[in-house]
Amino acid sequence: MRVLFASSEVFPLVKTGGLGDVSSALPAALAAAGHEVRILMPGYPAALSATTDRRELARLGDPLATGSEVVLIEGRMPDSGVTVWLLDCPALYARDGGPYTDLAGRDWPDNGLRFGLLSWAAAALSCEGSPLDWRPQILHCNDWQTGLAPAWLQAWNTPGRAGTVFTIHNIAYQGRYGADLVARLGLPADMYAPEGLEYYDTLSFLKGGIYYADRLTTVSPRYAREIQTPAFGYGMEGLLAWRAGVLTGILNGADYQVWDPATDRHLARVFKPGDAAGKAANKAALLNELGLQPQPHTPLLVVVTRLTEQKGMDLLLAVLPAILAQGAQVGVIGTGDRALEQAFLAAAAAHPDQVAVHIGYSEPLAHRLIAGGDMLLMPSRFEPCGLTQLYAFRYGTVPVGHAVGGLADTLVDTSYDTLINGSANAFVFEHSNAGAFQWAIERAVSLYRDPDRWRRIVEAGLAQDFSWSRAAQHYQDLYAGLIAERGL
Ligand code: ADP
Ligand code: GLC
Repeated sequence: MRVLFASSEVFPLVKTGGLGDVSSALPAALAAAGHEVRILMPGYPAALSATTDRRELARLGDPLATGSEVVLIEGRMPDSGVTVWLLDCPALYARDGGPYTDLAGRDWPDNGLRFGLLSWAAAALSCEGSPLDWRPQILHCNDWQTGLAPAWLQAWNTPGRAGTVFTIHNIAYQGRYGADLVARLGLPADMYAPEGLEYYDTLSFLKGGIYYADRLTTVSPRYAREIQTPAFGYGMEGLLAWRAGVLTGILNGADYQVWDPATDRHLARVFKPGDAAGKAANKAALLNELGLQPQPHTPLLVVVTRLTEQKGMDLLLAVLPAILAQGAQVGVIGTGDRALEQAFLAAAAAHPDQVAVHIGYSEPLAHRLIAGGDMLLMPSRFEPCGLTQLYAFRYGTVPVGHAVGGLADTLVDTSYDTLINGSANAFVFEHSNAGAFQWAIERAVSLYRDPDRWRRIVEAGLAQDFSWSRAAQHYQDLYAGLIAERGL
C-alpha cells in the first residue's frame, strides 16, 4: 500500500507531545510491514536540518500567496530511514520558537495559513494534478492541523484521489479561525456551512477532518466512545455520533526502540526490564540529579507532562501536602500553563528535600524520570491515549491514573482480586477530584512498602506488550478496506 502520513510534529525532528511520538513510530511500523510510506510535515528549520539525504523533489509554487515559493524537500528520518517530505516555505516556517507558538508561548498569529498550507499540500499530493509520479492510495491526516485536506480533496473531486483517514489525537484542539480565512485559503465558499467547515461562525479545521474524511479514528477505544458524549466531545459529539459508523478507536503503541531501559542512552545505567538493582541505581542517580535526599523506603512519584488543564495537575497541587506528609518525594518535568509552572516552582521552593521541579522540555530528563521513579502520576481529566504510562510499564514504574480514555484501556487497578489474579498493574481512580486521586496515591504508597506485592504489580506492567506492530496491523486493515471500497 502507498500511504502519505501528514502531521505537524514528528519525533525526533520536532515534538511537543505524543503526536510527535506516534508520527514517527507508526510510519516506521507500516514501512517495516512492507508498505510504501511518506511522512509530510512543515519544513521547520530544526526538521530540515535533522533529516539526512535531503534533495529537492518538486516546486509547488506559492499556492496561498505567502510570498515564499513552496519547495518540497525529500529527506530521511534519522533512525528509521522512512522517507519524509518537508514543505520548505520560509515565510511560514523559518522562525525561532515552537511548531505552534512563539518563544513566549503565544500561538503564531498566522497558524491558519501555516497549517492551511500543510493541509493543502497533503491534498494536492494525493490526487490527479500532483507534480509527483508517486501518489498515495491513502492520505492519513492527524489532528486539526491537517483537517482541511479531506475538505480540499472533496472540493476538487478528482477521480482516483486517495482515500482519507483522519485521526483525532486530541479533540480539545480544533483550529478555529475567522470566516475570512475561507477565501484567503481559496476554499469554496459553499463549504463554509453547518454541513461543512463552519462551526459557530468560525472556520474549523478539525470539523473539516471529521466531516469530510472517509474514515475517522482516534487513539483508544474508550476515547472513541467518550468523544461522542457532551462531557468529552468539545462540541463535536453530535457530528461524531452521526459519523460513528466510520469511527474506530485504535490504541497507540509504545516505541520500544526509543523507550527501552536496556538500550536507553539517556540513563545513568541501562538495565534489563525487571532488573530491580538496575532500576535502583537509576533512582539513586536521579535523586542526586534532582537534588533530593535519598531516603530508604520512600517512594519517588514522578510527572512528565504538558502542563495544561487536560492533565489535571491542579489536582496534584491540591493533594501535594497530604502526599508529602506520607513521606513521598516528587519529581516533575513539565511546561505549558504559566500559573501551573509557578505553582510547581513554589512547591519545590517550599519543600526542597521532597519536591524537585524542572520547568521546560527535556527528552533526556523525561527518560530518567520515567526510569528512576517508582510511580508515574497521571490524573488527567481526559486522555485520548496517553503514552507515558505505556513507557512507565517497561521501566518498572507503576502508573497512578484517572480512569479515562486510553488510561482506562491500559491501566488495571490494584485490588484484592486483581492482585491475586496477577492483572493489577496500576492504581486507578474513577472520579476526577482531589480526594479520589489522593486515595489512589495513598493506596500505592502503602503497597510500595510491601515489596512482594509491589513486585507483582511491577511484573504485570512489564509483561504487557504495546509494540507498534499490533496497532499498525489495525491501520493496515482499515486502509485495505478503504482502498477496496474506492477501487484504488
Ligand atoms: P500528550 O500527547 O497529551 O502530551 P502523551 O502521554 O501521549 O501525552 O505523550 C507525551 C509525550 O511527550 C511523551 O513522549 C512524554 O515523554 C513527552 N513529554 C511531555 N512533556 C515533556 C517535557 N516537559 N519534557 C520532555 N518530554 C515531555
Ligand atoms: C494527544 C493526546 C494523548 C495521545 C497523543 C498521541 O496529544 O493528548 O493522550 O497519547 O495525542 O496520540
